[in-house]
Amino acid sequence: MSDSKMIRPEEQTVGAAGGPAQVVYMDHPLIQHKIGYIRRKETGTKDFRQTIGEIAMLMCYEATRHLPLEEVQIETPICGTTAKVLKGKKLAIVPILRAGLGMVDGMLTMIPAAKVGHIGLYRDPETLSPVEYYCKLPADCAEREVFVVDPMLATGGSSVAAIRMLKEKGCRNIHFMCIIAAPEGVAAMQAAHPDVDIYVGALDEKLNDHGYIVPGLGDAGDRIFGTK
Ligand code: PRP
Ligand code: URA
Repeated sequence: MSDSKMIRPEEQTVGAAGGPAQVVYMDHPLIQHKIGYIRRKETGTKDFRQTIGEIAMLMCYEATRHLPLEEVQIETPICGTTAKVLKGKKLAIVPILRAGLGMVDGMLTMIPAAKVGHIGLYRDPETLSPVEYYCKLPADCAEREVFVVDPMLATGGSSVAAIRMLKEKGCRNIHFMCIIAAPEGVAAMQAAHPDVDIYVGALDEKLNDHGYIVPGLGDAGDRIFGTK
């Protein structure tokens, strides 16, 4: 996919519920600087995990520009006035285990009232197909705007499967947020879920023969949790 098909955060219109899906490139300098830092092979587990959280927080800020507001009447210590509040049900954040867990705290820093669901999927190392092992979602998930988070969008198998699981539970207003994407993954998502907005921090060149993103950052789950 070419850069010209991606839009900037301030160009977003209404989210997934209101029109065709958008691919939003998070061009904020702080996000780009931090992505450069986590790509480096010498960045250790502690710094990698912390920076993933910071990127998620910044991406959350940019990805929620479309949220509707309403005015309510309040009293300040001085007088009555109107104030703006987020309209409607709060959000749900759904990380794809394991690596998506690294983005949850950053999202919750921005949206503390969000509910959190979990979807467990891992890629079979031979076939690269997603294998499902866990799914626990907020009871009212179908009524919420859902942000699925995973640092990596490679073949797209995991995110396509996770969003299919959410749709089977009745969720309709879904967004997908990743830090690094391969063109193959973006294409797979757009083919399977053309109604789902995708937020990306970087669109890389390609996948290698093992399904890793090039240049990428390696295995995000192993780098967040120090398992390799
Ligand atoms: C990674 C990553 C995504 C998936 C992306 O998870 O966090 O979930 O791969 O690849 P795909 O787009 O080709 O499906 P992994 O399967 O390594 O599991 P982990 O998070 O438990 O390490
Ligand atoms: N999963 C990762 O963690 N990294 C990749 O490059 C591809 C899938």
